[in-house]
Amino acid sequence: MTNSNDLYTVRAARETDIPQILDIYNERILNSTCLFMYNQVSLDNRLTWFVETKAKGYPIIVATEKETDKAIAYACLGGFRPHTAYVLTTEISIYVHQDHQRKGLGVRLLKELLRIGTEMKFKNIQACITSENEGSVALFSKYGFKHAGHLRDVGYKFGRFLDVVFLEYITDVQVEKDKAVPAFKPFPWKTYVYTEKLYDN
Ligand SMILES: CC(C)(COP(=O)(O)OP(=O)(O)OC[C@H]1O[C@@H](n2cnc3c(N)ncnc32)[C@H](O)[C@@H]1OP(=O)(O)O)[C@@H](O)C(=O)NCCC(=O)NCCS
Repeated sequence: MTNSNDLYTVRAARETDIPQILDIYNERILNSTCLFMYNQVSLDNRLTWFVETKAKGYPIIVATEKETDKAIAYACLGGFRPHTAYVLTTEISIYVHQDHQRKGLGVRLLKELLRIGTEMKFKNIQACITSENEGSVALFSKYGFKHAGHLRDVGYKFGRFLDVVFLEYITDVQVEKDKAVPAFKPFPWKTYVYTEKLYDN
């Protein structure tokens, strides 16, 4: 039987992946409630996001088809809120192209970002999900995220109000006692290598 590891791999995102990332993002803006924008965004918008995320030391990883190296899913960590005390909290996002869903890519990217997030010394990883997005809630719940809050009618799209749920994953990261202001370890953009063997089963 073909294992999905034979067809896909994971690597750090590159600027050349932005057109694929843009396609995935814009499709979800137009056809779903998982993003709260109404209008598609430009290539420049995603390029700026890529450059800024990288400069701040957060990771963006992509799942690619091994044969073509084309990105067909991506996942990232980003800032939760700007104030200093939130520094060890991060927000996770995962997007898999419509044609490649339910092939295990969401799980693979989630497990890898949990490993990376822990390695980077984050204490709390937040997933902010539109409550009707049952697939996403199921995925995060299956891998250790716990319900942390439910906001009612905070969004309005396609002529209806939308609820948002927060799910959180708490790591066992500790902060050294003498650290007044802790920091996370920046993602090693230049040297990152995905280790498939970790996820063979
Ligand atoms: C949510 C999402 C990331 C899941 O990725 P995926 O590659 O399709 O998911 P996987 O194949 O890895 O599924 C893993 C498990 O998650 C759960 N799951 C995933 N999609 C599901 C769905 N549509 N309905 C119910 N359960 C689902 C299942 O438990 C599944 O295991 P199974 O296939 O053995 O039943 C993907 O559907 C997606 O990109 N959705 C749009 C964007 C989004 O909502 N992102 C999350 C917000 S951060």
